[in-house]
Amino acid sequence: TDLALIRNFSIIAHIDHGKSTLADRLIQRTGGLTDREMTAQVLDNMDIEKERGITIKAQTVRLDYKASDGQTYELNLMDTPGHVDFAYEVSRSLAACEGALLVVDAAQGVEAQTLANVYQSIEHDHEIVPVINKIDLPAAEPEKVRAEIEDVIGLDASDAVMTSAKSGIGIDEVLEAIVRRIPPPKGDRAAPLEAMLVDSWYDPYLGVVILVRVVNGVLRKGAQIKFMIGGTEHLVDRVGCMRPKIEQLDELAAGEIGFITAQIKDITETRVGDTITTVKNGAAQPLPGFKEVQPVVFCGLFPVDAADFEKLRESISKLRLNDASFSFEMETSAALGFGFRCGFLGLLHLEIIQERLTREYDLDLITTAPSVVYEMHMRDGTVRHLHNPADMPDPNHIETIEEPWIEAVIYVPDEYLGSILKLCQDRRGIQKNLTYVGGRAQATYELPLNEVVFDFYDRLKSISRGYASFDYHQIGTREGDLVKMSILVNNEPVDALSMIVHRSAAEARGRHMCERLKDLIPRHLFKIPIQAAIGGKVIARETIAAMRKDVTAKCYGGDITRKKKLLEKQKEGKKRMREYGSVQIPQEAFIAALRMG
Ligand code: GTP
Repeated sequence: TDLALIRNFSIIAHIDHGKSTLADRLIQRTGGLTDREMTAQVLDNMDIEKERGITIKAQTVRLDYKASDGQTYELNLMDTPGHVDFAYEVSRSLAACEGALLVVDAAQGVEAQTLANVYQSIEHDHEIVPVINKIDLPAAEPEKVRAEIEDVIGLDASDAVMTSAKSGIGIDEVLEAIVRRIPPPKGDRAAPLEAMLVDSWYDPYLGVVILVRVVNGVLRKGAQIKFMIGGTEHLVDRVGCMRPKIEQLDELAAGEIGFITAQIKDITETRVGDTITTVKNGAAQPLPGFKEVQPVVFCGLFPVDAADFEKLRESISKLRLNDASFSFEMETSAALGFGFRCGFLGLLHLEIIQERLTREYDLDLITTAPSVVYEMHMRDGTVRHLHNPADMPDPNHIETIEEPWIEAVIYVPDEYLGSILKLCQDRRGIQKNLTYVGGRAQATYELPLNEVVFDFYDRLKSISRGYASFDYHQIGTREGDLVKMSILVNNEPVDALSMIVHRSAAEARGRHMCERLKDLIPRHLFKIPIQAAIGGKVIARETIAAMRKDVTAKCYGGDITRKKKLLEKQKEGKKRMREYGSVQIPQEAFIAALRMG
C-alpha cells in the first residue's frame, strides 16, 4: 500500500470509557467481521479480560476503509493495554503509531490514566483526536467534558467527535477524522530493514507470533532475520495481518503493521522493543527506546495440596509461554512446602496470573504477601537483591537497605481529597504537587512501592467510592529504615507470613496481622499465642482462647450464612488445613491474613 493511504493509530482511554466497544464498532463498520461473527469485544480475547473488562495484551487489526474522498485506506488499529502495570507495552504500541483516538467517557470526564496515556501519546508526537463517548447516557455532559479536555490536557477539543460506541452513533465521523487528521507514516522502503517488535504471544498452532511495525525496508516471508538486542537469528515462515482473522501476506513494507512467525518456541527470545533486521545488509543500529522489563512485585505461590506441585509447575510453565514479563523459580517454605517465587510487573499482573492458575488450571493456591525488590547494601561492600523476605540476611551484616519508590498521580473529586491525602501520608508519601481543575484535584506524591503493593489501590477506590484514579511510574530506590517482621503461631514462626516493613509501621501492621489471625484461626483444645516479632523482640501479641464444644462459637455475631459457611468449610476436611506444630490453620486464614484488607 502507498504510504499516503496508511493510517496507524491506537485508542487511548481510561479503563471502562469504551475503548474496546469503539474498536469493535470500527471493525464492524469497515466489514472486518460479518454481524454473525461479531461477538462482543473481539479485541479482548481472553476470558479474564472479558470478565474484568480490561485489555491485557495489545492486539492489532487492519481495516480497509473507503473514505468520502473516494480512496480506500489501510487503517491499522492498535489496541493498547489500559493499566499501569503494562505501561511499557502501551509505550511500544504508541511508538508504532502516528496518532491516537483519545476516548473520554462523557459522564466521567478526564481521569488519571487518560492523562498518563495522553502525555505518553504527546511524547510520541501523535496527532490526537478527542472522542467523547457514551453521549447516550442520561448523565452525559459532553460540553463539560470538552472543556475539561481543553483545560486539563490542553488539547483543542473544538472538533472532538461525539460518539456512542454502544448505539453506533458517530462511527463514520471517527473513521473520517482518522483519515483526515492523523498523518500517514514516514519510512523508506529501499532502506535496510528496521522493524520494531511491538508485542509477542504464544499460539499453540503458530508458535510465537510477533507483532511488528516496519519502520524502514521490507520484511519478507522467507527472509533470514536477526533480533538486534536479543541476538538470535530466525527464518521468517509467515507474514500477515489480522482483520481480525488472520490473512497471510508476502511482505510488510515500511509504515505497515502486521505479524510474523519464525518457528520460535521460546517467547523470552522476543523482547518487546527489540529491533528486527535482516541478517544480510541489515541495519547498523537498533531503533531507540528499548527497555528491559523487570518484574517489580514478587510473591510465593504454593499449592494448598502438596500433591498439586507438579501440576502447578506445568501450569506456570504454560502461562509463561505467553508472558515473558512474568518470572518464576522454585521456592521451599517450611510452612507451605514446595512452591514458586514469582515476579510480576505489578499487582494487577499478579492477580491476573493467580486467577488464571486458579481458574484455567483448577489449582487451589496460597499466595504469600506481595513484596518489592530490596537492595541490601552489605557491610562487606556487596549488594544483594532481596526478592523474598524469608531470605533476609542477618541485619548485623547489612549496612543499609534501599527500597523502590514511585511517583504517583492521583486524580480525585474534591470531596474525597482529605481522606486520600491522609492515605498517602499514612503510606509515607511525600506530596510534590496539588492542583484543582473543575471540582477535581490532582495530587502528585512520591511513595515507597512497598506501601503501594499491599492494598493501596483498593483503599484508594473504597475511600473515594471508586472515583479516584491513579497512575504511577518508578523513580529509583531510596534508603529506608526497614526491618523483617515475623509472625509466630504457637511460638513457631510462619515463614510465609513474614514481611519487610518500615520500622515506623511495623507495630501497627504486626498488631493488625495478629488480630486478623486471631479471628481466622479456629479454636483448639488449648490456648494459642499469636505474636509479631522483629528479631527476637515481640511487638504485638494476641491469644486464641481454648475451644468450647460448639464449633460455630467463634463466629462473629449471629450471621447464619457465615455459620453455615464455616460448617461447610469444616466438612471440606483436612486437605485445606496446614499444621503448625499441633495447630491447624485453614487456607482461608492465610489468604485473608495475607490480604491485609
Ligand atoms: P478496558 O478494556 O477495561 O480499558 O475498557 P474499555 O475502555 O475497553 O471499555 P469497554 O469498551 O469495555 O466499555 C466499558 C463499558 O462501557 C461496557 O459495559 C460497555 O458496554 C460500556 N460502553 C461502551 N461504550 C458505551 C456507550 O457509548 N454508551 C454506553 N451507555 N455504554 C458504553
